[in-house]
Amino acid sequence: LGKEVDMHLDTIISDSSFCKLVTQVDTPLFNADLYMERHRAQYHFSPKRGWLNDPNGLVYYKGEYHLFFQHNPYGLRWGNMHWGHAVSTDLVHWKELDIALYPDERGTMFSGSAIVDTHNSSGLGTIDDPPLLLFYTCAEGTWEQGIAYSLDGRTFTKLPGVAMPSIVPGNRDPKVIWHEASQKWVMTLYVTEADEQHAIYFFQSDNLLNWRQVSIVNGGIGEDRYLYECPELYELPLGADSSNIKWVLSAVNGVYAIGDFDGTTFYPLYERIQGNHGRGYYAAQLFNNDPKGRRIEMGWRHTHTDLDGMTFNQSMSLPMSLSLQQRGAKFVVTRTPVQELESLRTKKYDCRRDTFDSLSINPLLDLQPRLLEIDMVLQPSPKSSFLMKMNGIEINYDVYTGRFEVDDVVNTIPLQDGLLKLRLFLDRVGIEIFAQDGEFYIPINKNTNSSTPQYAFHVSSEEMACLKFDVYELSAIW
Ligand code: FRU
Repeated sequence: LGKEVDMHLDTIISDSSFCKLVTQVDTPLFNADLYMERHRAQYHFSPKRGWLNDPNGLVYYKGEYHLFFQHNPYGLRWGNMHWGHAVSTDLVHWKELDIALYPDERGTMFSGSAIVDTHNSSGLGTIDDPPLLLFYTCAEGTWEQGIAYSLDGRTFTKLPGVAMPSIVPGNRDPKVIWHEASQKWVMTLYVTEADEQHAIYFFQSDNLLNWRQVSIVNGGIGEDRYLYECPELYELPLGADSSNIKWVLSAVNGVYAIGDFDGTTFYPLYERIQGNHGRGYYAAQLFNNDPKGRRIEMGWRHTHTDLDGMTFNQSMSLPMSLSLQQRGAKFVVTRTPVQELESLRTKKYDCRRDTFDSLSINPLLDLQPRLLEIDMVLQPSPKSSFLMKMNGIEINYDVYTGRFEVDDVVNTIPLQDGLLKLRLFLDRVGIEIFAQDGEFYIPINKNTNSSTPQYAFHVSSEEMACLKFDVYELSAIW
């Protein structure tokens, strides 16, 4: 009861009948009401109550995907950082559990990561029963990295802390991975050096408890901190070629570098690339330990929503599988929504015509569902263009210039082998667009829950051949 009272303090203070309120908290009916809130995304994770920001500790452990997250259980804005916790067996349907990490005398709980210590190198479990370890930042005073472990994925025991060189306050966001070639654990950490110079420090460990610093990647004075915060380091094979591996180092706003990593030092191949082509996608992290060996990413969808009467604020992106593709002399990271999301499809509408032109009837005219996935492939003539309306969001594409405009976000998307391939996911809050096999990921996060659903697809000037136009109604995950 104590925990529940804490969690709902803000509501309780303004409600004298708090005993009744607290006993209602976990009844199915009460949860169902919360999940039906008008601005709650219906197939993206959000907390039952309170604020959410970065995903933390994404990991697969003992048959479940774990999603921890930066969480303020006491209010609808950032503050009082705790680690919230949810689990899923399919990356799609999430069940929120008790808070995993509460603030303590060392500070509030800032972002971090989780690993499964398969070889029991920490000695906190056994090889038959490997421990789950959480690394987080204690954000106060000297700013240290904290460590907690669990053997059941439900209860977490904090240790006194990790042993590592002390760094300036403000350092944060430890991300830990296993580096197979050197047989070492590697941690990346965001650090603000003197003169406001931002950096990623690399550490190495044999036992996950003692860390030594091995290298630094830092920027010039005045360079943006968003290029360094929440560092993420992972390897990706080139297409299906598992012998050709590159390393990716990315940061909070999705900018990433491709290069090589030898267990101590990251060697970029060329300048960093912007990896997120939309708005409000932050602090993405990969799931450690996916049983299918995929590199699955999830990020925070930062939304400016109308909070009137709401019990929660903010949500996560869809889980996406990353891969590396060659584009000319360079490589790009592409994103595909995980296949498990197909389980949400309840009904299919085939909206395809052989060709669309300016006289075609709007193929989406009669669509009523609010939760939609659209999978389309267009083969446009060189001077054609289209306008698509998705519940308050407008997409304009002009083939000649490649200008792809969604809301106020503009990208240049050239045709690929004469085709434009799009997958769109529309929820009650926001749309996620994957263009050209995930080379462009364009999340737009705003309310899309208008009273009457409105969908349209209009082609102007020259005609546009259409190879695929599948529309799926999706079900809610709650
Ligand atoms: C990124 C971030 C992290 C920090 C966390 C605090 O959004 O600023 O650097 O750990 O949020 O909530």
